[in-house]
Amino acid sequence: MKLRSRDWFGREGKDGFIYRAWMKNQGVPADMFDGKPVVGICNTWSELTPCNGHFRELAEEVKKGVLESGGFPVEFPVMSLGETLMKPTAMLFRNLASMDVEESIRANPIDGVVLLCGCDKTTPSLVMGACSVDLPTLVVSGGAMLTGKFQGKDVGTSDLWRFANASKQGTITEEEMNLAEAGMCRSAGHCAVMGTASSMASMVEALGLTLPGNAAIPAVDANRKRLARMSGRRIVEMIKEELTMSKILKREAFENAIRVNAAIGGSTNFAIHLMAIAGRIGVDLQLEDFDKYSKGVPLVANLQPSGKYFMEDLYYAGGIPAVMHSIQSVMNTEALTVNGKTVGENCGNTVSLNESVISSMENPFNPLSGIVVLKGNLCTNGAVIKPSAASPALMKHTGKAVVFEDIEDYKAKIDDPNLDVDETSVLVLKNVGPKGYPGMPEVGNMGIPKKLLNKGVLDMVRISDGRMSGTGFGTVVLHISPESAVGGLLAYVQNGDQIELDVEARQLNLLVNEEELHIRRENLTLNLNKHRRGYCKLYVDHVEQSHLGADLDFLKGGSGSEVLRDSH
Ligand code: FES
Repeated sequence: MKLRSRDWFGREGKDGFIYRAWMKNQGVPADMFDGKPVVGICNTWSELTPCNGHFRELAEEVKKGVLESGGFPVEFPVMSLGETLMKPTAMLFRNLASMDVEESIRANPIDGVVLLCGCDKTTPSLVMGACSVDLPTLVVSGGAMLTGKFQGKDVGTSDLWRFANASKQGTITEEEMNLAEAGMCRSAGHCAVMGTASSMASMVEALGLTLPGNAAIPAVDANRKRLARMSGRRIVEMIKEELTMSKILKREAFENAIRVNAAIGGSTNFAIHLMAIAGRIGVDLQLEDFDKYSKGVPLVANLQPSGKYFMEDLYYAGGIPAVMHSIQSVMNTEALTVNGKTVGENCGNTVSLNESVISSMENPFNPLSGIVVLKGNLCTNGAVIKPSAASPALMKHTGKAVVFEDIEDYKAKIDDPNLDVDETSVLVLKNVGPKGYPGMPEVGNMGIPKKLLNKGVLDMVRISDGRMSGTGFGTVVLHISPESAVGGLLAYVQNGDQIELDVEARQLNLLVNEEELHIRRENLTLNLNKHRRGYCKLYVDHVEQSHLGADLDFLKGGSGSEVLRDSH
């Protein structure tokens, strides 16, 4: 086996001296340079990413495992994307972080990588970057928080939207809000529902990039540490077996991930991130594949926001292996995973331990699942909706548009008592797509206007070119492509226009005649020149539309692990 790290640590003369001597200033013994596989531990720890705040300890466990297997662990930081604090939106920086990961791995004497992923964007950004280098790579997720508690009830991030509505209506006091705030996030870890972070952890497990059981072990459970340690041991073996990412991330693995996401009621953000990962590893995945491979997979996991329970419950019920076992008749069970076994071998004996949390294909919680891909004149490249989190009564609906030109317009008008809106209206939000915002924020699940909330209205059809938090719910059409900022038909919608949604027919249409649209086109000016420098300029100039995964066009594919030049 030829280790790439030997090009650094195995050299003689001045170069080898430099490579080894400066590592020795950290107390590294000389025998660590005797040809041991070097494992990079890519850490997204940051106090500004609270969901990943426990990653220093997790990294220590991975290191122990690497040492136990005869490897040489080296931890390195990359840009960490915290969902709750970053503005304008963490998604703007997903591709930037992926560049950091790719270049950090390639530039250094690393033979294999363990990616420490947690909060939403930290998973796709790390996986995307690692795919473009294609070394043996294993993911360890940080795990979810323990289930939140408030006034004797279980609560999680999906309740945030309910608390916000209650606060708007004045049915919850400030003191109660403070108690809810303290009770929801009661341990280390990421959001405890099947939001985007949990969907991403499940995605990497379904793709075969983690040891079995990775997604559902709570952050503070001792088994999380054990899994990290076992992952450290396993990555050393993977290096010896030359088990690179591209040997695992075959098309079958992507199909499996889509099916598992359907079965667990995973986030709509899953589509955009999986497309971007496929683009990096060279698998031809289309938006329509999400609809195609979700079909026939019902919702078998009863988890918020589509159902009732939390990630901790999923763990006690058997985790993702039990979900995969439930749907194994539709899975590509021969797909290879990082432990060297197939999906079928990994989930073969893991039955559900609690049928109220993980049920069966024959007796699902909801026959509706997955991500439905809509087409129509409003979204010629596609749009998505998550039917399991939507209201059945609104899945076929025609209503008049109430238009918000951008997020500021929405904030200024949504609770205006004079807003011309009723429960049959369709709320339309423009300019929140990849280029238009920029960065495609999670604002698509617009709040219900206060005057309708007070009448007891809890859901309305809402459409936008933005995204929705994986913890969100409602009849919300997202990711409209082409987006309004590049001249998609969404840009031409006006107040009072009729909009038709028909989820079963996969249609989203603006019912305005061509003659009128022609006049509107003549009068519309587009302006994408607001961001003239730095990363925002690079992003707006090169980001692709959401139906392609919103990666930067020049980042598609990979450059392998070869270094560009050798300056020493
Ligand atoms: Fe980090 Fe929800 S805010 S996972």
